[in-house]
Amino acid sequence: MKIVIRRAMAADAKAVHQIVLAALRKTNAKDYPPSVIDRLVLTLPDKVASNLETWCAFVAIVDGGVVGTGSLDGQTVSSVYVHPDYQRRGIATRLMDAVEHAANAQSRGTLRVQSSVTAKPFYAKRGFRIVRKGFFGDEPTIVMSKDVPGMSE
Ligand SMILES: CC(C)(COP(=O)(O)OP(=O)(O)OC[C@H]1O[C@@H](n2cnc3c(N)ncnc32)[C@H](O)[C@@H]1OP(=O)(O)O)[C@@H](O)C(=O)NCCC(=O)NCCS
Repeated sequence: MKIVIRRAMAADAKAVHQIVLAALRKTNAKDYPPSVIDRLVLTLPDKVASNLETWCAFVAIVDGGVVGTGSLDGQTVSSVYVHPDYQRRGIATRLMDAVEHAANAQSRGTLRVQSSVTAKPFYAKRGFRIVRKGFFGDEPTIVMSKDVPGMSE
């Protein structure tokens, strides 16, 4: 399977919205109660889709279609989502390679992510370590971080 990673554009917003919605409903729903998922579907797909050009956002393309997204917002990893039909094929890995490369190029320091319970094993495999566990409203989250060396060293 050929995966192409490129910077996101405003024209990707509709596809990204659908991917976030599908991932919340099918993937995150295994780890969070319906009350949390119902609240997230009202806000997160719009938030991610409307910030593609504000954040340093990437999309993953397979067979000409957008199947995943991942963004860097300052020093924070934001919104890594892969469509449920395409998970466990290395797509988020490729997206995070692009996100970490962008973080490296921009500054040295620590990359942070407010991980879902769902994504914790994914970030842990990439070398992120738990900083603290907490709640965002009634949503359990895990703050994780990873040092990026930076190109200025
Ligand atoms: C987390 C997510 C982005 C991972 O996407 P993906 O494309 O399936 O990830 P990859 O295929 O690159 O996975 C790389 C490795 O991460 C780990 N991993 C990924 N998903 C995992 C899971 N559900 N359970 C355990 N380990 C997992 C595995 O070690 C995997 O390697 P392997 O498949 O060889 O075992 C995807 O599951 C998703 O969209 N989840 C819902 C949205 C979400 O919670 N996003 C994070 C917001 S902070």
